[in-house]
Amino acid sequence: MNASHYYLEATVASNISETSRVNTLVLRLSEELKIAPGQFLMVWRPGDGEIPITPSLTMGETLCLTIEKVGFTSSRLASLKPGEKVFLRGPYGNGFNLSLPGRYLLIGGGTGAASLTPSYLSLVRRGVETLFLVGARNRESLVYVRRLRELGAGFQVATDDGSEGFKGTLPEFFMEVSSRNRFENVLTIGPERMMVKIAEKCVEQGVSCQVSLVRIVRCGLGVCGSCVLDPLGLRVCVDGPVFHGEKILGSDFGRFMRDEAGRRVEVVQ
Ligand SMILES: Cc1cc2nc3c(=O)[nH]c(=O)nc-3n(C[C@H](O)[C@H](O)[C@H](O)COP(=O)(O)OP(=O)(O)OC[C@H]3O[C@@H](n4cnc5c(N)ncnc54)[C@H](O)[C@@H]3O)c2cc1C
Ligand code: FES
Repeated sequence: MNASHYYLEATVASNISETSRVNTLVLRLSEELKIAPGQFLMVWRPGDGEIPITPSLTMGETLCLTIEKVGFTSSRLASLKPGEKVFLRGPYGNGFNLSLPGRYLLIGGGTGAASLTPSYLSLVRRGVETLFLVGARNRESLVYVRRLRELGAGFQVATDDGSEGFKGTLPEFFMEVSSRNRFENVLTIGPERMMVKIAEKCVEQGVSCQVSLVRIVRCGLGVCGSCVLDPLGLRVCVDGPVFHGEKILGSDFGRFMRDEAGRRVEVVQ
């Protein structure tokens, strides 16, 4: 999809609480926005700032954004009320390659479960055999599972404390599931350390693995350098956010990122 650098106006139709830290905004757009699964939008509210968000659902002139309150802008956006407005530019980035042959395993941690939903729906609509694993620390932190049930999605749950579904982390659940089933493709969004473990296992097993990176994205246009993955020089906003795991393992993936001031800092999650 070609990016539009003009802002599109969107009105909040409803705001759904997912967990104490995560809300889904259902937006009505002034016109339809074509966006491929895994691409992202820059979401701006004047006075509150602008952040990158991957839509959790797109349907004609309706679009959902599932937002975790981690700082000022995300908290303000996640608290918007029906009738309030936001402005969107994009779509940006490459999105997932969903045309590779074979079966797909999707693995979403935290809000990653929401961000992977458009990919899941696109695969299932084309009749591609797909399994979706979603995970969180505990039952209360699971994101988007109500909406996935409404959509009739077949998904399986893992929680670190075993309060719902498989007891353990998503990489552990992935090992368990892949010991019983063969998948040719894995797609994952979640904490980077989780994605590194999954990408390493995929390389060992000879499975194609696409990971979607979350870095500090400011311009979204490949200009400012805040999102760079060192030492490869890859910009998450234009070269990603989706990368093939084997191409970025051994780089700063899962280990270091750039902070708001451009300093190299450890990835904490
Ligand atoms: C391509 C892409 C897609 C994204 N999609 C979603 C989504 O669908 N839903 C969602 O909830 N979030 C998503 N994010 C993450 C979201 O953009 C950030 O959480 C948001 O920018 C934080 O802004 P803030 O002003 O609220 O927090 P800030 O005040 O900027 O930051 C609060 C704290 O979080 C840290 N932080 C901020 N951004 C990041 C980051 N990217 N990685 C690690 N630490 C960070 C800061 O260092 C600070 O300590 C996405 C990010 C990218 C790059
Ligand atoms: S966000 Fe500016 S180069 Fe990627």
